[in-house]
Amino acid sequence: MFKKLFGQNENYIDSELSAEVPLPKHVAIIMDGNGRWAKRRFLPRIAGHKEGMNVVKKITKYASSLGIEVLTLYAFSTENWKRPTDEVDFLMKLPVEFFETFVPELVEENVRVNIMGYRENLPAHTLKSVEDAIEATKHCTGLVLNFALNYGGRAEILSATKAAILELKEEGRDPEDITEADIDNHLMSQGLGDPDLLIRTSGELRLSNFMLWQLAYSEFYFTEVHWPDFKEEDFLQAMIDYQNRSRRYGGL
Ligand code: FPP
Repeated sequence: MFKKLFGQNENYIDSELSAEVPLPKHVAIIMDGNGRWAKRRFLPRIAGHKEGMNVVKKITKYASSLGIEVLTLYAFSTENWKRPTDEVDFLMKLPVEFFETFVPELVEENVRVNIMGYRENLPAHTLKSVEDAIEATKHCTGLVLNFALNYGGRAEILSATKAAILELKEEGRDPEDITEADIDNHLMSQGLGDPDLLIRTSGELRLSNFMLWQLAYSEFYFTEVHWPDFKEEDFLQAMIDYQNRSRRYGGL
């Protein structure tokens, strides 16, 4: 059961998956470290993002093969607009390239694309590529590949609360009677469930405004590996780690 394995990147995998303990249904990832990965190689930051996109393809296929139900990836935050224009432009073109080359494989893998974020200020080409991918994969019933694109957790909670209050008023209910479920029903992740596991790569130990509401009871897994170096074995290690956690949701 606790046999030692070496992954292809020589990382130590210190156990193996258990057939008895469930895997997380919903895995969320903060894909960090693209810039540092590039800098170490004397490459421009965008080279790190490009390699990061290839890792998205690899990890999507692997998560799908493990039977994970939802994979949420933090691709662009509402704060990322502050980056240099060249980098923002590149990041906004990545979904176009990603979906142009990867949609047939997604369909083959039965993966459905979803987006979570403010669509209104996305460039037209970005929005079109995402919407086309959503349309092309809408019949797929396997893994949901959920991109957080122009997403911010605090803004999401605020909009959900406003929408919930409006709905309460329309229904003739007292806004003071607002419940967690009322807010939950207006979150952008509606229908996807809360992440069971959050992975953040590249050694940073913070949430960066990601799914603040939904991560209330999630398990956290941090790794020093930069996202462009993240491999199937690293994802597997996170799954094994998750299986060894004891989730109590505030109980004993
Ligand atoms: C954080 O690393 C990463 C991002 C802001 C972008 C993440 C995007 C991808 C991995 C590609 C996504 C692919 C698609 C298809 C949308 P950083 O740049 O902040 O790294 P650093 O902290 O080392 O500077």
